[in-house]
Amino acid sequence: MDLTLHVWRQPGPDAPGQFETYEATGITGEMSFLEMLDVVNERLIEEGREPIAFDHDCREGICGSCGFMIDGQAHGPQRGTAACQLHMRLYNDGDEIWIEPFRASAFPVVRDLAVNRTAFDHIVQAGGYVSQATGSAPDANLIPVPKPDADLAMDAASCIACGACVAACPNGAAQLYTAAKLAHLNLMPQGEPERYVRVERMVDTMEDYFGSCTNMGECEVACPKEISIDFIAMLNKDYRKAKFRGGTSQANTR
Ligand code: FES
Repeated sequence: MDLTLHVWRQPGPDAPGQFETYEATGITGEMSFLEMLDVVNERLIEEGREPIAFDHDCREGICGSCGFMIDGQAHGPQRGTAACQLHMRLYNDGDEIWIEPFRASAFPVVRDLAVNRTAFDHIVQAGGYVSQATGSAPDANLIPVPKPDADLAMDAASCIACGACVAACPNGAAQLYTAAKLAHLNLMPQGEPERYVRVERMVDTMEDYFGSCTNMGECEVACPKEISIDFIAMLNKDYRKAKFRGGTSQANTR
């Protein structure tokens, strides 16, 4: 199939950007969206032109590196699918596709479709870890974890930190990301002792970079891992408790 692409081109963070139009010819339905861009890039390189910059690594929907807006939707039109797992069989010959970077002030454009998502790292650095001595692997396996808690923690841990939630949110909020990173630790016994210190530090850091959540729900729809906004309710509940407990110096118990 042959497609017309309108791609945001921006040579650097402070340079002006604009859409440029490219013809993507000979595209097959088996190609992923990124492979389609590879084809376009090979032709651009052959012509001595700058290839389109975009982030990618695993191309298996695992690492969270890929991510841009496709026709106004983060990761494109297929729910629960990262851009690298989106296949061209969804498109028809002659389609026009608009491709642009995630739009959020916390994610400045690095080049073309690549954005800087370092703000996410600051949130995790603030508390997204367990500093308790949990012993060796056999010891950890002896700690009983209720099956519902383990399942919920695994759901939260499926967050790949791609930033689609932020890009989809009209407020540029990172509540879903932060809630997922909190829940996968807070639901486990090993994460419990630092639960309220963690939530306070991570939420306060989040607010330094991102907008505020007003429960629009766009994040859940855009998330390629379909992480539930129920985790945001968990975050809010824990954050309120942390504040009532008197701040980060307090010990943590349920
Ligand atoms: S490239 Fe790793 S999730 Fe898409």
